[in-house]
Amino acid sequence: EPVGRCGASLASNYTQTSEIVDLDWENLGFGLVQTDYMYIAKCGPDGNFSAGEMVPFGPIALNPSSGVLNYGQGLFEGLKAYRKTDGSILLFRPEENALRMRTGAERMCMPAPSVEQFVDAVKQTVLANKRWVPPTGKGSLYIRPLLMGSGAVLGLAPAPEYTFIIFVSPVGNYFKEGLAPINLIVEDKFHRATPGGTGCVKTIGNYASVLMAQKIAKEKGYSDVLYLDAVHKKYLEEVSSCNIFVVKGNVISTPAIKGTILPGITRKSIIDVALSKGFQVEERLVSVDELLDADEVFCTGTAVVVSPVGSITYQGKSVQYGHQGVGVVSQQLYTALTSLQMGQTEDWMGWTMQ
Ligand code: COI
Repeated sequence: EPVGRCGASLASNYTQTSEIVDLDWENLGFGLVQTDYMYIAKCGPDGNFSAGEMVPFGPIALNPSSGVLNYGQGLFEGLKAYRKTDGSILLFRPEENALRMRTGAERMCMPAPSVEQFVDAVKQTVLANKRWVPPTGKGSLYIRPLLMGSGAVLGLAPAPEYTFIIFVSPVGNYFKEGLAPINLIVEDKFHRATPGGTGCVKTIGNYASVLMAQKIAKEKGYSDVLYLDAVHKKYLEEVSSCNIFVVKGNVISTPAIKGTILPGITRKSIIDVALSKGFQVEERLVSVDELLDADEVFCTGTAVVVSPVGSITYQGKSVQYGHQGVGVVSQQLYTALTSLQMGQTEDWMGWTMQ
């Protein structure tokens, strides 16, 4: 039996639960489906995490005075497991999430699990819930690691205790449009992040703060919001839950990672896939004017994968791309990435893990 790089293998038998789940695989969206188990580990003042254990999925007890509830001392991650046609399960670049959690934890004054513990915990959680990994082509198992200040504080200070949890949920497409292009509105009043802030780490507060603009946009019929930089108010940052790419001819441009946008693992993977397909990729400042003049626009993220953008609205004017169809570049990159993730093409990058 193959053993993964970090201990547990996704190929081994973990639980005695029935293989059958009562779920309509044909209609998975992106909503929580409660699964069997979650992983939990704690870390006290010594900075070392306990070995961790699998427990039945369910509510957790938190001190009302905990750092996460009072001061937002928390981080999350997102990654996916895919089922191959032979029934085996693949993880996509879990070490990258482990490293990003460690970077974020430093910014948020939190201890973080080692890369090894993180990856091993992800594997254990997927294995314990393996009957919830959708059949090939029907979706994936979304894995949500959480790190939080669970210890009690009153004055503003790092919490004295931390909890690391991983839960999972089978998911399908993120946007209700499915794989059809989404319609974005450029936000010029609210900003997601500022230089020196926490925009570049996956802290929970970054996501609460974009809910209002998203709510307003959805009420107007848009799928989501595209943020501009807070200083010049003319360069693209990211969408509430994903990174953005602009295609012009053979050149694919995306905002550079300079402290205010999230360094997406799908973003980074798509850059490498695009380079391998002969595209020129530029990570730099990308202005809203370039966006409006693009041939194609698409978003990337773990949850959204590669989502084509059908239209952008900015200051009351709308631009449509590709007559609402999926652009050829977006389609090519989507297919290349997802066939790698699902183990349907040879993993020439070494990105998947059993
Ligand atoms: C992900 O893509 O995994 C994310 O964390 C975005 C989240 C808002 C669903």
